[in-house]
Amino acid sequence: MSSPIEVLIFGAGAVGAFYGSRLAQAPNVKVSCVCRSNYKAVASNGFSVSSPQYGDYKWKPTRVFANPKEAEASGVKWEYIVVSTKALPDVSDDSKQLEGLVHDKTAVVLIQNGLGVEDAYAKRFPSASILSAVTVVSAAQEQHGEIKHNRWTRINIGPYLPDSASLNSSDAEQRNNKFAQLLQQGGVKDAEAYTHAKLQLVRWHKLAINASMNPSSVLSNGSTNAEMAKDDELSRHLAGVMAEILTTAPKIIGHDFPPEFASADKLLASTRKNTSGSRPSMWLDWEAGKKMELEVILGNPIRIAREKGYEMPRLQTLYALLKMAQTNRDKQQAKAKL
Ligand SMILES: NC(=O)c1ccc[n+]([C@@H]2O[C@H](COP(=O)([O-])OP(=O)(O)OC[C@H]3O[C@@H](n4cnc5c(N)ncnc54)[C@H](OP(=O)(O)O)[C@@H]3O)[C@@H](O)[C@H]2O)c1
Repeated sequence: MSSPIEVLIFGAGAVGAFYGSRLAQAPNVKVSCVCRSNYKAVASNGFSVSSPQYGDYKWKPTRVFANPKEAEASGVKWEYIVVSTKALPDVSDDSKQLEGLVHDKTAVVLIQNGLGVEDAYAKRFPSASILSAVTVVSAAQEQHGEIKHNRWTRINIGPYLPDSASLNSSDAEQRNNKFAQLLQQGGVKDAEAYTHAKLQLVRWHKLAINASMNPSSVLSNGSTNAEMAKDDELSRHLAGVMAEILTTAPKIIGHDFPPEFASADKLLASTRKNTSGSRPSMWLDWEAGKKMELEVILGNPIRIAREKGYEMPRLQTLYALLKMAQTNRDKQQAKAKL
């Protein structure tokens, strides 16, 4: 048998541990993790995953590291490094953490929401392949090491090749196809490999959901997705934000959305039917006093559009208000600690 495919998960929370546990089911794949606050629990007991689709199972990663330096010291040549931290470029540049782990045969796979998450990795590791992944999944780490998969497994992956003359594009495409195949072999049947352009359209399309629902839930004091979509004024607002994104993105990318991508009306209609009572992750972060993914979900799209000469006033309003709300909350938290 050929040598195993070594995969490292950096940021083994809800999404990282869930997809790590699926990749580990593919033949000849070894999956290791860099953990942080869940290190002790995972090093002792591995992960417990509960899923309506895959049942309840235990997953022990091949190796569990307390930090990236330990992963480097292991001497393993990682074929894939999956980054599934929250994307918080205003807090830390996580690409720096991977120095010493990435070599020219490594593919860095970013499974994160938002736009512009790839840039720091592409700049820091110009000879590695950068793969960009968007997932529609609902998962949470309820206790350290306990992953609850609630719904959905859709994941699209595309090579990140913003420069059409990229030197290593065929390596990136090959690694991209193989990664999608490994997920499928791990039971994720709707994992699909896309081109760079199509994947970026998927990022913008997912943004239409995230950039409307997430900030609006925080600004309306914790509304559920369905409550917002059912409220007359709020649903007009959500539709307006979605329309702004869905009309601006094709102008920036130079391609229309394929017809199979849902319209704003369809997205809202399916949200109205969602009876799970779920709230967007930005609300959960806000409620827990944590930093929100504001820059990748609001700030970057606005800046990317502005560079091309387009303004997105609805998004800009949400960004300006929430950024200041977060700054004020952080000041209050810091004062309370004195
Ligand atoms: N959860 C979902 O259903 C879902 C769905 C679609 C997309 N997403 C996106 O997927 C991404 C990951 O979200 P998530 O829900 O999986 O977040 P999460 O549960 O908070 O997991 C992130 C993990 O990364 C770890 N981490 C952060 N910085 C680290 C570092 N320097 N070293 C080691 N570990 C580090 C965190 O550790 P600590 O616990 O110590 O902070 C945490 O375990 C986000 O961009 C999110 O928007 C999530």
